[in-house]
Amino acid sequence: MALFLDTSRGDSEATAFAIGDDVVRVASAHLLTRALEDNRDETLVVIDADFDLASALAIASEYRIRRPSLGVVLLRRRIDVALIAQALQAGVREVVTVDDLQAISAACKRSREVSARQLGVTPTIGQGQIVTVFSSKGGCGKTTISINLAVALAAIEKRRTVLVDLDLQFGDVGISLGLPSSPTIADAIPMAGQIDAKGVAALAHHHQSGLDCLLAPMNPEEVERIPGALVTELLQVLRSEYDYVIVDSPPAFTDTVLAALDLSDTYVLATTPDIPALKNLRITLDTFDELGYPRSAWQIVLNRGDEMNGLELDDIERALGTNIHLVIPQSTDVSRAGNRAVAIVTDKPKHPVAMALQKLASMQRGLEAEHVGAAHAPQRKSRLFRRGA
Ligand SMILES: Nc1ncnc2c1ncn2[C@@H]1O[C@H](COP(=O)(O)OP(=O)(O)OP(=O)(O)O)[C@@H](O)[C@H]1O
Ligand SMILES: [Mg+2]
Repeated sequence: MALFLDTSRGDSEATAFAIGDDVVRVASAHLLTRALEDNRDETLVVIDADFDLASALAIASEYRIRRPSLGVVLLRRRIDVALIAQALQAGVREVVTVDDLQAISAACKRSREVSARQLGVTPTIGQGQIVTVFSSKGGCGKTTISINLAVALAAIEKRRTVLVDLDLQFGDVGISLGLPSSPTIADAIPMAGQIDAKGVAALAHHHQSGLDCLLAPMNPEEVERIPGALVTELLQVLRSEYDYVIVDSPPAFTDTVLAALDLSDTYVLATTPDIPALKNLRITLDTFDELGYPRSAWQIVLNRGDEMNGLELDDIERALGTNIHLVIPQSTDVSRAGNRAVAIVTDKPKHPVAMALQKLASMQRGLEAEHVGAAHAPQRKSRLFRRGA
């Protein structure tokens, strides 16, 4: 079998025929991920000429590491030396002109032969769990939850964990953990298309808890130069290096946040018990439904949940149409820990806030079995948010 990532609306029958027997077409990168998870023995992916180059290279570099026996053949309308160099660096096996059917057929045959030789001798690297902490209203506790969840996973659960600060404009993970201000995610920009384990290691700050962190840039100009495709590439490499990739986010559906949400295995959705935050969460949940992020992967966290201000938990759950999975109490000790650049989860492990956050960390294990590699919804962004082609 071969997977043909075919986003063109035109006639690609002849191309499919040239690829060989038993070609399965997939219409988006997400469907490709899903198909590859379902077919662990698959050895060939052909990417059509209309598919965005940066995303194609990101796919090649991810699978070069995760599944070296999988060959990627890239079709383009025009080929030049620079393109070939870039593609080969990313791990593409061959680049072929889309209208040269004979060359497509020969490239696919060669790639299958290479894979056949590799199979059985090259180990497949594991896949960690990506958890994005999100809320569309600011100040609900995303960063507090992200930091403590990540520290708990690293220090208490002893899992290889990385925290990625995707609040690119105003990220405060670095300052909250007392880390130096550089390097940052912006230092990945020159590595686009060829990020590997060494590259991410050069970007990561090591925290005393055992946690690694990728920090938000200090310079707003750099933020504009970080596209969703770069985040996709980064997260894919991180997933092959760590057991858990925790993503802190800004309170908005930006392109980079959508890239993270699209790749996430589970979602921690934070709210506080007040009407504006609950209204925003309701809209977020409807959006998640539309995007196809499965409800079983949602973890709804009610932060400051002991300050209900006249609201009842039952009413909140009814209004949201879903259960609250975890309640974190309110305490001034949270800000105090933040001001001392420590995580409450390890600084005061018996504190009720710390215990709730430790529970959130242990809850990830249950979801891990169910969701990792499940590669959620098909064509999420394309339906709601895609800008341009
Ligand atoms: N359970 C809590 N009890 C008391 N204070 C809290 C609690 N959770 C968070 N805080 C405090 O609320 C403030 C906002 O929290 P945090 O920065 O984690 O929110 P955020 O959702 O990341 O905000 P933003 O949208 O601005 O990124 C911080 O000062 C934090 O210390
Ligand atoms: Mg924050």
